[in-house]
This record gives sequence, C-alpha cells and structure tokens, in this order.
Amino acid sequence: MEVKKISAIICAAGKGERAQFNKNKLLAPLFGAPVLYHTLEKFTIKEIDEVIVTSSKVDLKEISAICAPFGFKVVEGGATRTQSVKRALEHVTGDIVLIHDGARPYVTKEIILNCIDSAKKFGSGVCAIRLTDTAVCAELGLVTDRLNRDDVYRVQTPQAFITEDIKYAYSLSGNEVFTDDSAVYGKFIAPPRIVEGSEDNVKLTFKRDFESTYPIPISGKFIGFGVDVHAVCEGNCVTLGGIKIDCGFALAAHSDGDVVIHALMDALLSAAGLRDIGVYFPDSDPSLSGADSRAMLAKVRDILGAMKFEPKNISISVQAEKPKLAPHIEDMKTALSKVLHMDKSRIAISAGTSEKLGFVGQCLGICAYAAVTLCEVENG
Ligand code: CTP
Ligand code: MG
Repeated sequence: MEVKKISAIICAAGKGERAQFNKNKLLAPLFGAPVLYHTLEKFTIKEIDEVIVTSSKVDLKEISAICAPFGFKVVEGGATRTQSVKRALEHVTGDIVLIHDGARPYVTKEIILNCIDSAKKFGSGVCAIRLTDTAVCAELGLVTDRLNRDDVYRVQTPQAFITEDIKYAYSLSGNEVFTDDSAVYGKFIAPPRIVEGSEDNVKLTFKRDFESTYPIPISGKFIGFGVDVHAVCEGNCVTLGGIKIDCGFALAAHSDGDVVIHALMDALLSAAGLRDIGVYFPDSDPSLSGADSRAMLAKVRDILGAMKFEPKNISISVQAEKPKLAPHIEDMKTALSKVLHMDKSRIAISAGTSEKLGFVGQCLGICAYAAVTLCEVENG
C-alpha cells in the first residue's frame, strides 16, 4: 500500500472527572502550559500531515485556542471516547491514522514513528508495555488464575491503523463502548500488532498523576538564545530590563514593551526546550495589556523551577541609538537578579548603537539579544 498522507486524532473531549479539577484535566497546567498543549506539540513532526482534536462542547473555545497556533482541526466529540473517535474519523483524510489520548503528554517521537512504521508494514501498531508485577485473575477478592506475565501487556496510545480498516471497524461498532481503538480493531478486523511503549508514557488520570510529573523530555538542553524588537512610538519613556528610562519616546507593545526581558524570557524558555513567549503570554490575552514584564519573567522562572532548572548565567546585548543606557545597566542587573533570585555577577548586559544603520540606527526601534545557560537544581 502506498502511504501518501498520515493523520492523527488527539482525544480531548473527556471530562477528566477522576482528576477532580472541576474542569477537563487536559486544560490543567503542566509546566506553565495546558497538558493538551504539550501533547499536541509532540505531533508537530514532519511525518504527520493532519491533526484532528476532539473537544466537548463546553471546552470548544478553550481547546480551539490551544489548537490554533498549531493549525490543528477541532471537532466535537461524543459522550464516550468511542463516540468521540468515531466522529473524528469522519474528518480523517490520511491513509494511516494514529489515535492518541490527549492525556498522555509524555509520548515520544520515537514511539509515534514506531507505531506508524508498524501500521505501514502490518496494518496496525498499538503501543503497549509489559508488566513488571505478577498478574492474576480474581473473583470476589479471591485469586482464581495466574497469568503468564510474559503474555500480558498494558495497552497505551498512540495506536496506528490503516484508516480504511479502522473506519470500517468503527462503522460496525454500533453503540458498544470500547476503552481503546485496538479493541474495536481486534473485534472487527484482525489481532492488532504490538509496538513497544514506555513506562513514561503515562495517562494523567488522577490528581496525584499531575503532582508527580517529571520534566517533559527536553530538546534544547542548557543553552538558550532569544531576540526581541519593539518599534519606537510616541510617548515619554521606555522600560528596559525592568527600569523605566525617560527618553522622549516609548516602545509600541501589548505589554510594557521591555525588549530586554522579552529576549531574556525567550532565551530561558528555549534553553529548557520550550516554546517562545508568544505561546505563554499571547498578545490576545487582555490581562497582559500594559503588563509588567518582570511578572512574566517571574512566571518563566517558576516554570523552569518546576522543571528543576535554574539560570546559571545570562548575557544580554541591547542595540539602541537612544537613550544612553550605560548609566542604567547596574539598575537593570539588580532588577533582573531580584526576579530570578540569582547573583548579579552572573548577569552581563552590554549596550551599543548601530552606527546610524538600519532600524536601530535610524531610531525606529530597539532590539535586544539574550543568551543563557541553565543548570539542573542541585538536590532538586
Ligand atoms: N475522551 C474523549 N471523549 C470522551 C471521553 C474521553 O475524547 N467522551 C478523551 C479524554 O479527553 C482523554 C482520553 O479520551 O484524553 C482518555 O480518556 P480518560 O483518560 O478516561 O479521560 P477522561 O474521560 O477525560 O477522564 P475521566 O474518565 O476521569 O472522566
Ligand atoms: Mg474517561
């Protein structure tokens, strides 16, 4: 079979009742962003051409906002996971479809690709792991049978299938409720093929699963780089590195326009393998109008802290024709060190002009670059 297009369905239409957050558990924060955001990010790989996310009616607005930056399609789910997948399958146009629980943010690219490969070769690829505990059957609290542990697996997601087959299987499923897609496939098509999953690929189910979370596997270890530019506009003063400087103009921005802190936040997030500040502090958020960037920096510090990271050193370069920054550099360093709880000596800020060249030189904007290193918190 020639595979031209691969689709993915991410199931997010549940209520998350067992997690007891009084809202869908996938909207709960994990390292500063909703759980669903982290799961979706894993599917932004070139091998996947189309992603369809199921959402309940009540969460449609919030889930659509999370999906928008990724360009993923959102469809209304049903009362059970089985019904949600059935509805999502109607929108799938790929030759192979991966079905994944939004509640499993720790899935890896390797697992996703292995499931796809298995579906290409064998028609299905279902992520599962072996048991480490002894497995028994019991009735009324009494053990009735012992299972051969080597024959027993715990089934996870993703699960990949030839789209035509899984659509056909679901079309035969009627109103029956299944806990996963391999059960539907197994009943109506063929025994599904197992692909090795991972102990880390947990399904966040109960509140405690959110408390004992471990860092999202990080890609950009330890070194981070960030840049920001804001245009000059009418006004009296600019805020740079948390310090207000009178200069007869302002910087156009949704927040306080502190390019220094914005570049720094991007560098810190990037060092931890996370996305940029636009994701964490969107322009569309009215609560951030005129916001003090130091408060946003404190939030980034806390996100990194939760991942057991702390900044080791910071190097910032500001490009501005005006105002003269040298008299303010020590104050900026003090302001940043206070927010980040780090020694001032680890923060370097240099400033320069652009010799009247380009937008900086013509006084049309101010630009800042930041490079950082992160280290893991000792005894963390
Ligand atoms: N799901 C879905 N449609 C439903 C029910 C569940 O798309 N009608 C999704 C959930 O959002 C979740 C995945 O299927 O990502 C696995 O379900 P589960 O872990 O049981 O999540 P919830 O049903 O939300 O949680 P609970 O059972 O505790 O209410
Ligand atoms: Mg459920």
